[in-house]
Amino acid sequence: MSRSRHVARLLGSSAVVAALLLLGGVIANGSISAFSSGHDDAPGACESQSVDAPGRGCAKALEKLFEQGKQVFRYDTFGDEDFWGGQLQLHKAIEGATLGGVGGGVSPKTALTAAGLKVDVDALPNDLVAALKAGKVDLDSPATTLALLKLNAVVGVKGFFDTGGSLTSVGITCALCHSTVDDSFAPGIGKRLDGWPNQDLNTGLIVSLAPNLAPMAQQVLGSGNPAAIDTLKKVLLSWGPGFYDAEVNIDAIGFKQDADGNTMIGGDGKPESAATRIPAAYGHLGENFHTWTGYFGDVTYWNAYVANLQMHGNGNFNDSRFEFKLPNGKYKYPAAIRGRFNKLRHEPDQVTSKLAPLHYYQLSLKPPTPPSGSFDRTAAAQGEKIFNGKGRCSDCHMPPLYTDAGFNSHTPEEICLTNSKGEIDTFQADRGPRGLNPGSLVTPQLNGLWARSKRGFYHDGRFPTLSAVIDHYNSCFGLRLSPGQKSDLVEFLKSK
Ligand code: HEC
Ligand code: HEC
Repeated sequence: MSRSRHVARLLGSSAVVAALLLLGGVIANGSISAFSSGHDDAPGACESQSVDAPGRGCAKALEKLFEQGKQVFRYDTFGDEDFWGGQLQLHKAIEGATLGGVGGGVSPKTALTAAGLKVDVDALPNDLVAALKAGKVDLDSPATTLALLKLNAVVGVKGFFDTGGSLTSVGITCALCHSTVDDSFAPGIGKRLDGWPNQDLNTGLIVSLAPNLAPMAQQVLGSGNPAAIDTLKKVLLSWGPGFYDAEVNIDAIGFKQDADGNTMIGGDGKPESAATRIPAAYGHLGENFHTWTGYFGDVTYWNAYVANLQMHGNGNFNDSRFEFKLPNGKYKYPAAIRGRFNKLRHEPDQVTSKLAPLHYYQLSLKPPTPPSGSFDRTAAAQGEKIFNGKGRCSDCHMPPLYTDAGFNSHTPEEICLTNSKGEIDTFQADRGPRGLNPGSLVTPQLNGLWARSKRGFYHDGRFPTLSAVIDHYNSCFGLRLSPGQKSDLVEFLKSK
């Protein structure tokens, strides 16, 4: 009999339970770790016996899982350097022609401003910090970017170097989009803030710099010819800072469409971007569906989706929903079929073993508390009453989760979402694999809203301010909120 089962059987006897209770102090001091040992490495962390009486071994196992997940989230490329470096040759654009690559290269200044990348100050040695403070570091030279990559200091970007110190490839991690820094050293340089979206990151611009976009154009658009590459570049450059399109890689739709499937043209005469705001990866414990778009799945699904299909990690992935055909006989997800994303296989699989710790870490990321003085407390308290009462907000954003308990997804009609033609805007809602139900949008949880509001609100950032969001609901639901009630509601949202 295994030691844990033996203990479980012993625990069935009430005399033993009483003895254990009496000996509580002793147990806490370490004797319990004897029967918890051996579980530490299991991905589930605590077997049922230890959950009922969590001891030090159990806590230790969870801590370990958390640390493993953190490593994956921050530093793991899942082998995606085979794609970003190996196929697209992105590292060559970073180093520039003088260092053996192509073009002008990416200086730290460009990386921090135009690209919106972040630097982890804790990864910098003291002498470099001193040199930076003294203004003695050349921020205009791609060689400095390479030095930062060697130090593993560029958040979410991992450089691979040969023994001679030349950059041979580059890969990306989850932290690229879902971490930022606190700017404590300088703008863009500071301590990591995991789970906070990088609202400055210009993913489209970064990818567009890759010298060889043919493999991506081939998978997304079905051709790697110059015209297709040109189209792909237009799509990438339409995103802008803080935005990314996590579905174009499966449905091949580069720009927003109207109800008839025609490309929408914006006020500036250009096609409207189909990208969404990069969401926060914090505050998701207790939620059902994730992402902006309904029906993809929860965090576990999405982590596997992103690692394999967005980051192009070398893993295994199944989603038979990608084989769905539209009434016109065409695939809904033609790019997914081209990439064989419905049944992706790699040997060895560099993703699946990391999903459990990654899941645990992700769900551990708490939403950050708003800085004191950033909202009016009295008004926020009034606003909370409106949120849960006259405003009807808690119909969907149920406190304290602030998303629906249960099926947390709603049709665009329910929230009066319209496109610039005035039609009900089902575009993003319909991009999910929806089956029999109409397309829907997930109710985003509202905690930590203040740290993710730089690029507006709703999936496409259509409302620049919280007041605009509330005006929208006021007319959509016919709420008849007074100006005072509206501003109280804004203060409440700022307090989350
Ligand atoms: C290139 C940028 C990028 C990278 C890299 C990235 N994500 Fe995301 N992530 C996004 C975007 C954009 C969305 C929203 C997608 C949508 O709704 O269509 C998203 C959504 C999510 C969500 C759902 C959030 C919510 O509000 O429901 C989770 C969880 C998540 N990502 C986790 C991860 C993990 C884990 C990794 C690494 C394996 C990762 N992401 C890598 C851009 C990125
Ligand atoms: C019928 C369900 C429903 C009700 C009722 C509702 N919301 Fe929402 N809310 C949503 C959905 C769905 C979204 C996401 C829309 C999108 O992604 O485009 C959303 C988005 C938001 C956002 C933007 C979050 C972000 O990260 O961009 C805020 C803020 C918000 N709601 C506040 C409120 C307030 C305040 C009320 C009450 C006046 C309210 N909601 C009522 C479903 C609802």
